[in-house]
Amino acid sequence: MAEELIIASTANKAARYNTLLPQVESLVRGEPDVVANLANIAAALKQTMNFFWVGFYLVKEDQLVLGPFQGPIACTRINYGKGVCGTSWSEKKTILVPDVDQFPGHIACSSASRSEIVLPAFKNNEVALVLDVDSDQLNDFDETDQHNLEKVMRIIEQLI
Ligand code: SME
Repeated sequence: MAEELIIASTANKAARYNTLLPQVESLVRGEPDVVANLANIAAALKQTMNFFWVGFYLVKEDQLVLGPFQGPIACTRINYGKGVCGTSWSEKKTILVPDVDQFPGHIACSSASRSEIVLPAFKNNEVALVLDVDSDQLNDFDETDQHNLEKVMRIIEQLI
């Protein structure tokens, strides 16, 4: 695996994702442990994109349970259909929230969080985990984030 992450030295988000994605593939190649891989993916996303909070919630029985993440401490359990993460799980789709105050039932793990994107990864057509990314800026996520983070989820689906 790569020992050092190469980060595109540009403010251009698409360019940073383009440099990151092949490195995510090589980071996880040959490593069968899911937690180790999710931990490195969270760290690579944090280092490259400088997200305020980035991490995983894993489906365990009837709840989402906090997994590997980077950023401030966070809520450990989220119920099905609750918050942005639980809604992504129940609706089986990516949820992009430009302003968390406008999302009914948003769960504020940190009062600094202003916008958010949550993406599911599937195993046997069921959500197995979600990736949650939070920003301390309003309206910080767009189609470039969605498109590229969905590619990350497709890589993760090959590991779970
Ligand atoms: N805001 C999320 C909860 C998780 S934290 O943001 C890390 C939600 O509404 O599901």
